[in-house]
Amino acid sequence: MATYDHRLSDGGPVAEAVESAAVRVNGLTRSFGDRQVLRNVDLTLARGEFTALLGRSGSGKSTLLRAVAGLDHTTVGTGEILVPRRVSLVFQDSRLLPWLRILDNVVLGLPGDDARERGRAALDEVSLGGRASAWPHELSGGEQQRAALARSLVSEPELLLADEPFGSLDALTRIRMHRLLRRLYERHRPAVLLVTHDVDEAVTLADRVLVLDDGDFVLDLRIDLPADRDPGDPLFQRHRTTLLGALGALPDDRTKDTEEPS
Ligand SMILES: Nc1ncnc2c1ncn2[C@@H]1O[C@H](COP(=O)(O)OP(=O)(O)OP(=O)(O)O)[C@@H](O)[C@H]1O
Ligand SMILES: [Mg+2]
Repeated sequence: MATYDHRLSDGGPVAEAVESAAVRVNGLTRSFGDRQVLRNVDLTLARGEFTALLGRSGSGKSTLLRAVAGLDHTTVGTGEILVPRRVSLVFQDSRLLPWLRILDNVVLGLPGDDARERGRAALDEVSLGGRASAWPHELSGGEQQRAALARSLVSEPELLLADEPFGSLDALTRIRMHRLLRRLYERHRPAVLLVTHDVDEAVTLADRVLVLDDGDFVLDLRIDLPADRDPGDPLFQRHRTTLLGALGALPDDRTKDTEEPS
């Protein structure tokens, strides 16, 4: 039975608390059996901020994301989580409903007389305007993820939560998806919390990268690079080395190269 509070930002003092922040997490703990996966985690995400969350497998990234999404009501835990009203989710698989055509998937649950029009515009944004009446199984994996992105953004969320959304795509498609996500982000400006295993993906996309280890953050790194990032840029490489160091993925002789977090 959950003992935590998951509250929306549409009432009294809570709305005030999240005015400048899209997400505020205080003292979050989560346990499975005797195993405490999150230990007293605090997290503030500014409005419109793009944050990537890295961590080893099993470090609790998805547990944190699910808690912020309010999807873990059967989990034991404590803490307070404040989120905006409009939150969207994207996962590693597209979760398109197989019995609905692509446009119907995108507009499912979307209120308003103009829902279909907005759905078509969202599909245009991900270059799937011509596939509105296709079935999900007729789309490639990358196209399905593009449809999932359209579905997540059509409601103009204030917060986009993404759990390894490109994890099952091939390297080339993933690079295209990075450009698309960054473009969509710049157009819609939700706060983003992107869980990824991929250090390059984090440095390519995010303005801030958090590293989770042993139940709490061990690094909070600001990425001061231009929007159009070049992996050959020495600062890109430094951030990469720092993050690999925090993940314990550097040979011992290179750990001295890592920078202090900003
Ligand atoms: N429903 C559950 N029941 C029991 N244990 C769970 C459950 N969900 C997660 N765990 C455990 O909690 C820990 C953190 O899991 P979580 O899925 O958050 O990790 P992760 O960082 O997302 O890993 P990955 O990178 O492999 O996706 C793991 O040890 C996992 O086995
Ligand atoms: Mg996970």
